[in-house]
Amino acid sequence: MKRLCLLLLAVTLPLASLCAQSDEALPILVQVLGATDDPQAQLDILKGLADGLKGRRGVKAPAGWDAVAMKLGTGSNTQVKELVQQLSLVFGSASALADMRKQMLDAKAPTAQRLAALEALVAAKDANLAESLRQLLTDPALRGAALRGLATYDDAKTPAAILALLPSLTPAERRDALGTLAARLAFARPLVAALAAGQLAAKDLPADLVRQIRNYEQPDLNAALDQHWGTARASSADIQKQTERYKALLTAANAPKPDLAKGRAVFAKTCGQCHTLYGVGGKVGPDITGSNRADLDYLLHNILDPNAEIPNDYRTWNLDTKDDRSISGVMARQDATTVTIVTPNESLTIARSDIAKLRQSELSMMPEGLLQALPEEEVRNLIAYLRGKEQVKLP
Ligand code: HEC
Repeated sequence: MKRLCLLLLAVTLPLASLCAQSDEALPILVQVLGATDDPQAQLDILKGLADGLKGRRGVKAPAGWDAVAMKLGTGSNTQVKELVQQLSLVFGSASALADMRKQMLDAKAPTAQRLAALEALVAAKDANLAESLRQLLTDPALRGAALRGLATYDDAKTPAAILALLPSLTPAERRDALGTLAARLAFARPLVAALAAGQLAAKDLPADLVRQIRNYEQPDLNAALDQHWGTARASSADIQKQTERYKALLTAANAPKPDLAKGRAVFAKTCGQCHTLYGVGGKVGPDITGSNRADLDYLLHNILDPNAEIPNDYRTWNLDTKDDRSISGVMARQDATTVTIVTPNESLTIARSDIAKLRQSELSMMPEGLLQALPEEEVRNLIAYLRGKEQVKLP
């Protein structure tokens, strides 16, 4: 492996990430890093190291790292400095931890730098971070990342802090907030209680999160979801009936003229976290720009019956961490040390040593019942937007 890495590095530096996955090759990368003064080469090697070590914590610092970190950490290139700090954190450096906390909380520092610090601290599972993250919920620049980061910590104060904030959040922030509340059984209970109490409208709780909560297999939660949100899975006879109903609705001769701009807004809220259309949206499901969208039968079939045929890449993976976090998404990458899962909110790289359970489900990551949650007018607008040929302005 060592020889191979030296060879690879001689050919192309970006291959550093491959080498960084083998702990015995790390000192070689560090040696090459220390020997070069070429800023681009430094950046390539650092990026490779960061990529290869993504999701890992407490890795023993390779020989020579401290000296290299000292040299590069005092240079003038901010990107190099950030990567050096991030790696020092992976190698368990206490001073890097302290520096990053300071940066994250410094309201005068550039937002990108604060976000990078926050994300690195969450990835390193900095033990006392939950309280700081809750404080950052008042800061619009860091709120989304803080909401996502809170899922990492099993902290009893988190659900109440997030629920209190719900009414004031933007749609994207609300998704992050709800995603974090669904991520732990201990958080999902107060979330479902808020739904039952009417503090959260059923239409604001996305179907994929409902399914994630159902995965906890708690009879009381499932009963509350049945009552306040809707039932679990449709039979094929139900789907047949729904298809006929929507087809009649959407082809009715006297139907009002649909509003494509409003349809785009429905898409942004109900589909866009997973699908890209005209270059905007998420990457959990396929990009549907080039699909057979103009065809109503194609659309209804795929929306009403997502489990009819599922390409293997899009089956749901359910991952439980050893500290009781649950993650549902599609598998983006697996190797010997880490697993990367893409959820509608983020891409998460988890060290295999942190995983308690990992299983692939029979179901598509695309939930059923998406149209039933919408008023008829919104269904008409959404479908007209989907069947259109070009992007329209949001209302
Ligand atoms: C939680 C993620 C998620 C949401 C939300 C979601 N989808 Fe999907 N969708 C997927 C995945 C994953 C697939 C691929 C697997 C499958 O076909 O079931 C898919 C497949 C599709 C397809 C078929 C694509 C193809 O390649 O033929 C269409 C069309 C589609 N979705 C439309 C929609 C629309 C419209 C909405 C909103 C009403 C929506 N989806 C909401 C994840 C999602």
